[in-house]
Amino acid sequence: MTVVSGIQPTGKPHLGNYLGAIRNYVKLQNEAHDSGGRCFIFLADLHAISMPHDPAELHASTLEMVATLVACGLDPAKAVLFNQAQVPAHSELQWLLMGTARMGWLNRMTQWKDKAGKNREGQSVALFGYPVLQAADVLLYQANYVPVGEDQKQHLELARDIAQKFNNDFASEDAPVFTLPDPYIPKAAARIMSLRDGSRKMSKSEPSDMSRINLTDDADEMAQKIKKAKTDPEPLPSEIAGLAERPEALNLVTIFAALDETTPEAVLAEHGGKGFGHFKPVLAEKLLEILGPIRESFVELRQDREVLDAILARGAAQAREASRPTLNAAYNALGLVRG
Ligand code: TYM
Repeated sequence: MTVVSGIQPTGKPHLGNYLGAIRNYVKLQNEAHDSGGRCFIFLADLHAISMPHDPAELHASTLEMVATLVACGLDPAKAVLFNQAQVPAHSELQWLLMGTARMGWLNRMTQWKDKAGKNREGQSVALFGYPVLQAADVLLYQANYVPVGEDQKQHLELARDIAQKFNNDFASEDAPVFTLPDPYIPKAAARIMSLRDGSRKMSKSEPSDMSRINLTDDADEMAQKIKKAKTDPEPLPSEIAGLAERPEALNLVTIFAALDETTPEAVLAEHGGKGFGHFKPVLAEKLLEILGPIRESFVELRQDREVLDAILARGAAQAREASRPTLNAAYNALGLVRG
């Protein structure tokens, strides 16, 4: 079993990242470790330059993201933790896959459409080619499982299409170059929504900080954001169907269920009939119970620059080593002469 996933080190990691992805990184890291498999988790810093960015900020937030991931339970002794820029094989394989990916496939990516909006001509080529780098990220390690939130599902399907076409075009059936990866998406927390608008996902790039809980927020900030979260005046229903037209209420119930590792139905069975004056403080307390220790550990870890650098250096060396066979196989399959 090989597990691979990445997170962009732009902005602060938030509750959506945690419940949708990071928590599963930790779970699968442990499963892989216990079963003799491998887990690779990386900071997608190369992806981060596809949008306008501040280099000094990217540099600082890359190190902060390492501290956050370790604080969340990623263990450099069990998982390979690294940043993409330290493993050139990612960029190399992306270029090799550019010959296989089709313009039409990339044109259909909803993230590209959302981010580019009406101004496609003004976007970087990197933003358009972004999913090809993402495919390279996972194919390089022969990933079986890729823990992600719902918003990355389409990119993973594209990675499968690229792998399949490459194998068909350049490899024999009994010796494929790439393994087809499967997304690993949580049932309940696949898409955590903004605290201010139940129709938009919680996102690092949303201008209002009140729209998300950052993993680095302190107790007061968290309580304040939950208190101000958009809701409606109705009490919670006791059946999930009663939340169909109430996206903000559904989001808070989903968050509670995910934090408590239970189902929204079980949350409603307990809190149905009560209003948000009751439910919000209960939710804030639950948040603090789960995220409080993570924040404490983050605050300590972020100060130890040497330890963070050492984690990345060790992870990069392991990733360079692990990626070599597949990268070589891809070069060879394409007929490229390398001496
Ligand atoms: P990124 O950095 O936007 O998000 C990191 C992970 O968090 C998940 N996520 C969410 N899950 C639930 N609810 C939300 N509101 C929410 N917001 C974010 C994302 O689905 C993701 O799993 N392109 C990727 C990074 C990447 C990658 C990869 C992922 C680069 N290469 C290879 C997997 C495999 C991204 O920008 O994620």
